[in-house]
Amino acid sequence: MASPLILLTLTTLLFHLPSTLSQSAPAPGPAGPINITAILVGGGQFNSFRRLLNETRVLDQLPNQLNNSNQGMTIFAPTDNAFQNLPAGTLNGLSEEKKVKLVLYHVLPKFYSMDDLVTVSNPVPTQAGSSRGSLGLNFTGRASQVNVSTGVVETQINNALRKDFPLAVYVVDKVLLFQEDAPAPEGASSPPGTKPSAKAPSSPAADGDGATPSKNGGGRIVDMGMGLVGGLVLFCMAFL
Ligand SMILES: *[C@@H]1O[C@H](CO)[C@@H](O)[C@H](O)[C@H]1NC(C)=O
Ligand SMILES: *[C@@H]1O[C@H](CO)[C@@H](O)[C@H](O)[C@H]1NC(C)=O
Ligand SMILES: *[C@@H]1O[C@H](CO)[C@@H](O)[C@H](O)[C@H]1NC(C)=O
Ligand SMILES: *[C@@H]1O[C@H](CO)[C@@H](O)[C@H](O)[C@H]1NC(C)=O
Ligand SMILES: *[C@@H]1O[C@H](CO)[C@@H](O)[C@H](O)[C@H]1NC(C)=O
Repeated sequence: MASPLILLTLTTLLFHLPSTLSQSAPAPGPAGPINITAILVGGGQFNSFRRLLNETRVLDQLPNQLNNSNQGMTIFAPTDNAFQNLPAGTLNGLSEEKKVKLVLYHVLPKFYSMDDLVTVSNPVPTQAGSSRGSLGLNFTGRASQVNVSTGVVETQINNALRKDFPLAVYVVDKVLLFQEDAPAPEGASSPPGTKPSAKAPSSPAADGDGATPSKNGGGRIVDMGMGLVGGLVLFCMAFL
């Protein structure tokens, strides 16, 4: 008879789980839920990032994800100055989907201390990563001197608003912009002689229907969102 055995195992697990958790919880503190808004407000110069997190609704997902993950999370918070230094119209020019993707690019689905970041193997997946494994971040440097690179932007990680498991929030003085829509296959770039003329608005025509790529891009983001929600649901069910 297998089922009593399974039941027994489950019961054993259930009884051991809480004690395992409390044993491994290092901080006895009041440990209320982590309030990301409060962390950013406390930092004093992260209003743009906080607004973007809120506006994209990513702020609603993060606490749940953090609560339901045993991996923790790492967030790179660009300063207000970083947002001011963006070329005019950068954010306003983004679709809602692209904004979400940009925000998620600042989130790693795992906790990394500064020491971890020095030794981590590149590229490190971000929350914006697609199934194609793109959209990672690269980290270089040595103790307390770590740079993060997107391929477009490189900047130093200066400071931590929070550095204890399960959530690290690091200050960056640049918005981590990434390469738009993946470097097209090397072979696909136009031959030297055919540099697209700046005055020709019809240049995308060479690639066929210009609307198709962005449509696909949106689809991927929806898929990703569904995947996240589905994953959370599955995770919650595992605990019921
Ligand atoms: C998080 O902190 C912010 C700012 O301090 C506060 O307005 C908000 O109510 C807090 N949220 C929760 C869920 O405690
Ligand atoms: C968050 O966004 C919602 C709507 O997107 C808005 O109504 C609300 O005022 C925003 N909150 C903050 C603190 O910016
Ligand atoms: C976090 O998870 C615990 C159980 O793991 C649950 O009791 C608590 O309500 C959750 N908190 C939030 C904010 O989801
Ligand atoms: C980090 O980036 C800065 C520019 O922001 C550069 O000057 C420095 O050499 C880089 N350091 C490392 C270790 O890559
Ligand atoms: C990150 O580093 C890997 C190799 O370590 C390299 O192939 C890749 O192009 C780099 N990506 C970025 C975004 O810098």
